[in-house]
This record gives sequence, C-alpha cells and structure tokens, in this order.
Amino acid sequence: MKVLISAGPTREKIDPARFISNFSSGKMGYALAAASAKSGLKTVLVSGPVSIKPPRNVKIINVESSAEMTCEIRREAKNSDIIIMAAAVADYRPLKYANEKIKKSHSEKITIELEKTEDILASLGKNKKKGQILCGFSAETSKLVPNALKKLKSKNLDWIIANEIGRPGRGFGCDTNEVIMISKDGEKVKFPLQKKRPLAEKILKLILRSCNT
Ligand code: CTP
Repeated sequence: MKVLISAGPTREKIDPARFISNFSSGKMGYALAAASAKSGLKTVLVSGPVSIKPPRNVKIINVESSAEMTCEIRREAKNSDIIIMAAAVADYRPLKYANEKIKKSHSEKITIELEKTEDILASLGKNKKKGQILCGFSAETSKLVPNALKKLKSKNLDWIIANEIGRPGRGFGCDTNEVIMISKDGEKVKFPLQKKRPLAEKILKLILRSCNT
C-alpha cells in the first residue's frame, strides 16, 4: 500500500525577487504523512516550501511551483493506492515571468496578468486508476458543506475534507483544525477542534477503512 500526500503552499514567481503564494503552513499534510508512516504504510510527501522538519520514514519530494507539484504528483500517482491532496496549490500564476526585477515606475498602479494553473486533483480524478482512493481538502470561508460537495463531485473524489479557514484555530498556519469528512457515498463525519496530529490519524483511519470495504 502506497500513500501519496501533498502539503504546503506553492510559489508562483513574478520576477527574481517576488512570488504569489498563500498562508498554508503544511502542518496538516505533514501530520497526515507522519500518521501514514507510523501505520507502516509506504509514504511519499510532495511538499511546497514550508519550515517543518520532515516526518520519519517518509520520502520527501520538495517542490516550489504548482507546475513542479503537478509533475511530481503525476509521476508518483501512477502506483499510489491512496492520494491525499492537502497542498494549497495556487489557482493562478503570472502569465509572464520577468527575468529582470520589475522596477518601481511613476505609475501609481500596475497590473500583473495571471493564468490558470492545472487542477492537479481534478486531473487525477479524471484518470483515476481502479481501486485508487482520492481525497481532497476543501478550504472555504463560507458555504462549507455545499462547496465541499461540489468539489467532491466535480473532481471525481472518494473523500473531501471540508475545512473552514479564516476562523481562529482552524485551517492555515494553526496547530489545530476542525473538519467534516464527506465520502462519495454520502457518509459524513465531523471531527471537532483538535491538534492536527491526532486529527490526521483519525482522517487516515477513515480513509483506510473505506479501502477495505
Ligand atoms: N487543488 C489541486 N490543484 C489546484 C487547485 C487545487 O490539486 N490547482 C486541490 C487542492 O489540493 C485541494 C482541492 O483541490 O485538495 C480543493 O482545493 P481548494 O483550494 O479548496 O479549491 P479549488 O478547487 O482551488 O477551488 P476554489 O479555490 O474556487 O475554492
């Protein structure tokens, strides 16, 4: 059994000095990887730039951009039984990378044109192998469950983890989290506010149980 997990943010470069990113700390994905390795499962973690010590017995692949993450996940996904996308992948990246640092101009406003990145999870869902379990996170500030359900369906997932962000103690950067896990069969399990590590163990247990049924 091989478990592939992604974690952290991606960085989309604007010029040699600047990038677009988000507040993801990688803590949830790293906690999931640690829990998976502790269960004796072969675990691969594709990680965006974070400042967390790698968990023991986990193969780490460090990436920076969404394009690099797409490439590594695609390669590792081929022989993975369970894939959990906990990474906060950028949805857009600068259309053009400026080789030289963009200098301050006289203009009060500037515009950076962005283009869509590939939706890694949706593409995994489209090409899902027989028996492969796909799990995504749904980071929301409102309409938590309806938005999560939309992603579960549109990305052809087995599980979606609805994760409210923006409230103290939940989501990006926190040591704790509160989530609702929803399966494609309609099972809904609410995990109350708790530390990310014990939460990761419960999430993994539920996913593993669904593999054996
Ligand atoms: N995801 C992905 N590739 C992207 C964007 C998101 O694989 N380019 C994955 C995330 O890792 C997560 C799931 O899709 O597991 C949902 O991500 P989220 O940011 O909640 O939603 P989006 O699909 O990006 O939609 P929106 O930002 O509009 O909520």
